[in-house]
Amino acid sequence: MPDSYFRRPCPACGGRVRHREGDPFAECTACGRRFTLKDPPPQNGSAEGTPKGAPQKRSFLKALLSKIKTAARAIRSKCSALYASLYRKIRKKNDRIPLPRPEGIPRLQGPSEGQMDQGQRALYNARKQQLATGGNAHVVQSEPTKSERLESFVLRHRVFSIVTAALAVLLLLTLLTVGIAFCVKEASINKDPFRIYYGTEDDYDRHEYKFIAFKTPDSEVREISHRINMTKIAALCDLTISGTANAPKYALRGGSAYVKFESGSDLALVNGSNYQMDCPATYDENGDLWVDLYFADSILGGMEIGVDLETNTITVTRNTTPEGTVLDPVYETISISAGNHSSVPSSGNAARPTATYKIDISAYAADLYPTDTSYLILANKEHPLGADYVPADLTEADVSRTKTVELRASAARALEAMFAEMKEDGVTDISVTSSYRSYTYQEGLFSYYVSEYQKEGYTYDEAVKLVESDTARPGYSEHQTGLCVDFLTSSMNGLSNEFENTEAFVWLRENAWKFGFILRYPSDKIDTTGYTYESWHYRFVGVDAATEIHTSGWCFEEYLERQ
Ligand code: DAL
Ligand code: ZN
Repeated sequence: MPDSYFRRPCPACGGRVRHREGDPFAECTACGRRFTLKDPPPQNGSAEGTPKGAPQKRSFLKALLSKIKTAARAIRSKCSALYASLYRKIRKKNDRIPLPRPEGIPRLQGPSEGQMDQGQRALYNARKQQLATGGNAHVVQSEPTKSERLESFVLRHRVFSIVTAALAVLLLLTLLTVGIAFCVKEASINKDPFRIYYGTEDDYDRHEYKFIAFKTPDSEVREISHRINMTKIAALCDLTISGTANAPKYALRGGSAYVKFESGSDLALVNGSNYQMDCPATYDENGDLWVDLYFADSILGGMEIGVDLETNTITVTRNTTPEGTVLDPVYETISISAGNHSSVPSSGNAARPTATYKIDISAYAADLYPTDTSYLILANKEHPLGADYVPADLTEADVSRTKTVELRASAARALEAMFAEMKEDGVTDISVTSSYRSYTYQEGLFSYYVSEYQKEGYTYDEAVKLVESDTARPGYSEHQTGLCVDFLTSSMNGLSNEFENTEAFVWLRENAWKFGFILRYPSDKIDTTGYTYESWHYRFVGVDAATEIHTSGWCFEEYLERQ
């Protein structure tokens, strides 16, 4: 690098001030006077020949940068010096350990080192030596330094961390075990879904019920099917019953698990899955449903079913826990029924149940048993009534304060009787929303539903097909006979199978037949009736026909076929 010269001349002699590379000072070339490099800044080339503009600007920036760097370096160095001095002070203070004083050696006293004579110095040195080497002094426990305390804390902390981690792992393992146990339990419940639990094995009242085994006529060919009275079991176990008369559904109260049987079918539906039974479910002459004993035994948890084939006796034991009490087991035997059923009524051959009433039924007798066969008129997709059919004896039924209920005379009186009986039984949340419907009314209803589907984007043909599944074309509706009604309760927003979950529905399922009414479109007869399940639609056919339909499990079409 060539020599550089200061812009300003030497203040002493006016000579040029030069700086040589590597020299910490600049020097006047005339008088030899030396300057620091700071003032004025050295320039490359001669002062006069220094180019102006960009290069000068660049060198200014460079100088600024270098100044900043220098300042930063100085600050850093100052900080580190300060830090180092502080650190030394702290260390010195913290690491100051009181000198251990050996027992039996007195504190050094007397003249200062300079004033000692030879003997004193010798003694002093000997003691100092003794102190330095420990001598006979025993080690005195010193106060721990800050760093020792820190080290000990870290150590303890580490122990603490290890203990905490171990506890956390233990907790996780416990949770995992509990979770797995819960899942396994859930899985086993799902595997065996229809369980009825009443308390624990250890604290319960024990009620024992006896049933008499129920044999099928198959016993004559030595294929004995044992059945159990499901209607009684449901009552004993406080199961809720829904579904239809022909296909009752039993569910644990407050639970979602259910089992559904169908009269005449050997398939049972448990929580949506079909199970094969050894024999079909059948109604007896009292309207009780009997189902495959072994199947019932396999699905009914919380109960023990014992079978003594010698004495033809079935013993059902149900465990219960009275709420809030823990009692010693009480054994109680209750005989529910007696007698040996040597034959099972097959569908349609059931003995007639006898209808009993709370109200005085005598005033309604003639209407409940109409002799006019027109009350058995069939109206379905294959049997239209035509546009001109209007029943001759339409009259108003006195069952509603808000809506006119128009029916044929006997159907209207039978409905009034049925409402009176329902009231006696405390069932009041029920009303009739639709009764007789003229051809024109049905025409309007049908077109309205079709147009609603068309608005959703269906073609006319598609819309008609959809509507036809639950609404009759004009001229085909049973409502035009003046013999049927649609029921509604306050909990329902329009007609829907939510009706199935009402008290009114349960009452109708058990009692409607006594007033000559039948559930017209059961869920298990869609192929025969041509319409989807309508839990709300009831048809008057008279008590004779209704009784037979109720006990046989047939739908109206099937009943008529057998006449
Ligand atoms: N909902 C019945 C089928 C009718 O429209 O007559
Ligand atoms: Zn209807």
